Amino acid sequence: MPFTIAIDGPAASGKGTIARALAAHFGFHHLDTGLLYRAVGAKGGDPVAAAQGLSADDLARGDLRSAAAGQAASRVAAIAEVRGALTDFQRRFAAQEPGAVLDGRDIGTVICPDAAVKLYVVADDRVRAARRAAELGADVDRMLAELRERDARDAGRAAAPLKPAADALVLDTTAMDIDAAVAEAVRIVRAALG
Ligand code: C5P
Repeated sequence: MPFTIAIDGPAASGKGTIARALAAHFGFHHLDTGLLYRAVGAKGGDPVAAAQGLSADDLARGDLRSAAAGQAASRVAAIAEVRGALTDFQRRFAAQEPGAVLDGRDIGTVICPDAAVKLYVVADDRVRAARRAAELGADVDRMLAELRERDARDAGRAAAPLKPAADALVLDTTAMDIDAAVAEAVRIVRAALG
């Protein structure tokens, strides 16, 4: 039985870094599901057709990490048919042995409701904006406005809104550096592995 770890949370909460570190630590596969929505948004045209025909080349584009790509992703991610077109791929990815870590917004609630570990990673939005601004070399206030707009859209949509699963553990990284956050996540997963 593959071991699945679901990591959700708002933009720039640290979930991607934690997911990558957990996968490396435990030898699991890792999927950054935000990249799928970023690639659909960046492709342009009909988003449902873009999601249905998503290719490895689409995911390898160099411009997917920008704030503009994040906003475009958040707009197409509100379309239920787009989400539906990406569901099977994510579930197949999650079923790989010996295990997989998926990070996104709806992994614990919709994609992998039976995941062995569910983490919901949060942090104060000013701290998240400062982290993302440093990463992208962008202005903190502009990043803060961008994150707030994106979080509000992601949490307010009807299709798979951003929210913690009822059985998710909330990890607040506001006052943690990345090593401390990863150490805490490793401790939680190790306890679940038994
Ligand atoms: O995680 P990342 O910032 O790359 O995600 C970009 C956007 O993709 C999010 O703001 C959200 O709208 C969407 N997304 C989603 N469900 C996921 C992952 C990302 O709706 N599982």
